[in-house]
Amino acid sequence: MTGVTARVPAKLNLQLAVGPPRADGYHDLVTVFHAVSLFDQVTVEPAGRDGITVTGEGADRVPADQDNLALRAIAALRAAVPDRGTAAVHVTIAKRIPVAAGLAGGSADAAAALVACNELWAAGLTQPQLCGIGATIGSDVAFALLGGTAVGRGRGEQLTPALAPATQYHWVLAFADGQLSTPAVYAALDRLRAARSADPAESEVGPASEPDLDAALMSALRTGDAARVGQQLSNDLQQAAVSLFPALRKTLTAGLELGALGALVAGSGPTCVFLAANAERALELAVSLSGAGVCRSVARVSGPVPGAAVVSAA
Ligand code: C5P
Repeated sequence: MTGVTARVPAKLNLQLAVGPPRADGYHDLVTVFHAVSLFDQVTVEPAGRDGITVTGEGADRVPADQDNLALRAIAALRAAVPDRGTAAVHVTIAKRIPVAAGLAGGSADAAAALVACNELWAAGLTQPQLCGIGATIGSDVAFALLGGTAVGRGRGEQLTPALAPATQYHWVLAFADGQLSTPAVYAALDRLRAARSADPAESEVGPASEPDLDAALMSALRTGDAARVGQQLSNDLQQAAVSLFPALRKTLTAGLELGALGALVAGSGPTCVFLAANAERALELAVSLSGAGVCRSVARVSGPVPGAAVVSAA
C-alpha cells in the first residue's frame, strides 16, 4: 500500500455541562457531541521516518513535530501493535477545521491518523480499541472516531450514541478573528465560579455541581424539531469564553437577531454556532452574518455526519 487517506468531521457540543475541577486538572463533563460536515483530511504514506506536513486553514499554527496530536496518536497505535510491521509514515493534514476554535480540530486529526494507520498497517483494531488509544491523546478523539450524535461523560471520552431520528440539522458557524486556549477557558470558568461562591450576586454562572444530561435537549433531539433543539442548546463554558473574548457577545446577539433558532459558543470557543430551520434559512443567515461584520468568516454545515473514515487507499 502506498497511502491511505481518512476524512474526519469537526464536532459541536449541543450541551456542555462542566463539573468542578478534578484532582488530575480535568473536569468531569456531561456533553452532547454532534459531528458536522466540516472535514479535515489526513493522508499517511510509508516513509523513511515519521514526519508531518500541514496545509490549509490555520496550518501555520499547527505543530509540525512530535507534539502534533496526529503523530502522538500514531506513536500510541504503534506501541499497541508492536508485532504488526508498523513502519514509519509521513502524515499530510489538509485542514479545513480552524485551529483552537472549539471544534476539536486537533483531536479530529488524531482520530483520522488512527483510522488511516490502522488501515495502512493492516493492524485490524476495532473502533472501541482505537477509541481507547485515542482517549489517551485527547478528550475528544474518541468522539471524532464515533461521529453522529452521542452523549459524552468523564473527560468526554466515555460515549453513548444518542438514538436520534435521521433529522439533519443545518448550522452556521461564525469563525472568530483569534483563538482561545481550552485550558485558559476552563480556568476562567473555575475563577468565575469561585467568585460566585464568594459573592452570590457576582455572576450567573452555573454552580460547580455534578453535571447532568439535559432531558429537554434529549427529548427535542428525539422529536427532530429544530426549533426545540435551538431553545435547549447550552454551554457552561460560554460565559468564560465570552469573558476572555468579549466580541463574541455581539456575534451571538447578531445571529439571534437575524433569526437563528438558537446560538452558542462552540466548546471552549471562540467559534459561534447558530441553528437554522432548514438549508435556505442557513444560507440567508450565513449571508447576513457575513454582511454584519461580526466575525472573520462563516461556514454552513449540517449534522450529524459519521466519524473518521478511510476515503481512499492505494
Ligand atoms: O484532553 P484535551 O487535551 O483535549 O484537553 C485540553 C485541556 O482542556 C486540558 O488540559 C484541560 O485543561 C481542559 N479540559 C478539562 N476537562 C475536560 C477536557 C479538557 O479541564 N473534560
